[in-house]
Order: sequence, then structure tokens, then C-alpha cells
Amino acid sequence: MKSDALARIAAAADPNALEALRVEFLGKQGSISALLKTLGKMSPEERQEKAPAIQALRQGVADALAAKKAALDAAELEARLATETLDLTLPAPETPRGTVHPVSQVMDELAEIFADLGFAVATGPEVEDDWYNFTALNMPESHPARAMHDTFYFPDTAPKGGRMLLRTHTSPVQVRTMMTDGAPVRIIAPGRVYRSDSDATHTPMFHQVEGLVIDKDIHLGHLKWTLETFLKAFFQTDDIVLRLRPSYFPFTEPSVEVDVGFAIDDKGKRVLGGSGDEPGHGWMELLGSGMVNRRVIEMSGLDPDQYQGFAFGVGVDRLAMLKYGMDDLRAFFDGDVRWLQHYGFSA
Ligand code: PHE
Repeated sequence: MKSDALARIAAAADPNALEALRVEFLGKQGSISALLKTLGKMSPEERQEKAPAIQALRQGVADALAAKKAALDAAELEARLATETLDLTLPAPETPRGTVHPVSQVMDELAEIFADLGFAVATGPEVEDDWYNFTALNMPESHPARAMHDTFYFPDTAPKGGRMLLRTHTSPVQVRTMMTDGAPVRIIAPGRVYRSDSDATHTPMFHQVEGLVIDKDIHLGHLKWTLETFLKAFFQTDDIVLRLRPSYFPFTEPSVEVDVGFAIDDKGKRVLGGSGDEPGHGWMELLGSGMVNRRVIEMSGLDPDQYQGFAFGVGVDRLAMLKYGMDDLRAFFDGDVRWLQHYGFSA
């Protein structure tokens, strides 16, 4: 019986066949188990005589099963290792990555360009009060210029500064900075502003960057040089021609609207460069600016006989549209990744 069992164990082809043999020999109803049970019914003498052979049989079969199981397991591992090869030269799957939004990107660029010119970055609240947004900027209650701003007011608010509102421009940061830092001042103030207005070129929320310089003996020439230097750096070309036009803002005097010359390329797109007066060229309104009105300097706690300066405000979204050739302002705030990808803004 022993040699027969051992031969069958040696021939077992796989772990299942081996397990079936284990049950057949050593399981509860197994043949060797049955032999072991006969020992209990024997006389002590008979048991002493037969027990060693039965025990040896059980042990021999158990050893053979264990050895065969180890051999089958090893063979199975070998086979798996042979098929499961790992190709370390395969490229890893690409995971999509976000990128900086064009508006944030332009704000970062502006901060860098102006840092080189010695400007710090200042900030102010988007929920502003009437006094900073209008009154201190020389727009008292009932000033007609207030009506041009399509202001979002908060109902039923009237703390010390007047009604609360969503700031309509970044100019209140001028006042806040002069009041907290005194003079001299050299800052830009980028941020969100709000006006109740919506079409292809207007969104109720958009971005501006304010510039403010306050010092002694500041004049219009400083403003023009600063704007030219900034625009050449931003658009990465020396071919930037500015036109300064007299204009009106309550908080600057004189006020200057700045236009930039452009040409039309073969696809009909506007490209900056050259004088707008050349044939086939034109002027594009770019930003508002001027010498800070002495009344604003005064209301901000400084002496306008000692200090003067210039200020400008420019739409960040409009700068981004011009630089990257984007033409619908609303797309800036849709969060559509395909639009960002189209302009090279997403991986
Ligand atoms: N605050 C003005 C606007 O939003 C722009 C401006 C800023 C004009 C500073 C002059 C000086 O239209």
C-alpha cells in the first residue's frame, strides 16, 4: 500500500490532485485514518506489534505529501515569474495636470515687471465702503461719475464710511495705501472688481491692476516712461507706440487716456506695434491714468503741496486677451479646460 500511495503522490500533476490524495489517505474518512482507528480495538500485544508500521506508513505518506506540495508550489512560482515580466522601459501613463490661469499668469507677470521698477504689491478689500470707492476719490454723493460705474450695493448697510458695495475699481487701494503707508508710495494693486454689466467684452467681475506713485517732483513724463517701459516688457517688444489723450477722471487731474497703436495681420487679427496713424493701422484704448488729484492726496492724509504723483488703472483680462489672442472675455470665467488647452494653458 505504501509504495502505491507514494507513486500516486509523486505523479500528482497539480495542487488540486495532490489535495484529493491527501483527503483519500489522511482525511477523516481516509484509508490510513481507518487503519489508525483499528489500533484502538486491538489487544495491547497486537497493538504493540502493528502500531509502528501503521505510524510509519502515516508519517511516510504525510512527508511525501508535504514534499510534493513544496515542489508543486515552487514549479508554479517559476511558471508565474516566467510569464509576468515587467517592462521597465514602458512610459508611465500621463496624469492630467492643472496650470496657472491666464489671468493669474498675467498678474504674476505684472508683479514681476513692476518689482523690477521698484513697485511693491498692495491689496485692499473687494467688499469696500462708499467712502474709499467714491468719496475719497473725489466723487462725493450725487457726483455724476458715480452713475458710470453700475455699482453693486449691499442693501441696508451704512457704517461710518457709508454704504457697503463691491468695489468698482482698484482705485480705493490708492487711498488705503497713502493712509496706512504715508509717502513716498510706489505700488501696484492687482485684484477683482465688480460692475453690473455683461456682454462679450464685459463680465460682472473682472480684474484690474492699479498703479500709484507718490513722491516729490513727480510729473507726467514719469507716467509716460513707466507705462512705456511696462508695456514693452509685458508684450516683449520695443515696437510699442503710445498715444496720450486728454480725458476725465474725478481722481486725476490732468487725466490721460492711453491708446496703443496696432496693425492688422493677414488673418484680420490686431497685432500691437507701430503708430496707429499709419495707413491700415489703428489706435486701441488701453488704460486710464493721470496725475493724482490734489484733493485725493489731501483726503488720504498727505500734503498736496509737498507730494504729487501719478496713477493708472488697466484691465488685466484685456491685457491677457491682447497678449494671448483670446477674443471672448466670458470664456475666462467658464472654467472650460478645452478653451485653456486651445491657448496652450493646460497640459
Ligand atoms: N479707476 C479707473 C477705472 O476703473 C481707472 C483709472 C485708475 C484712471 C487710475 C485713472 C487713474 O476706470
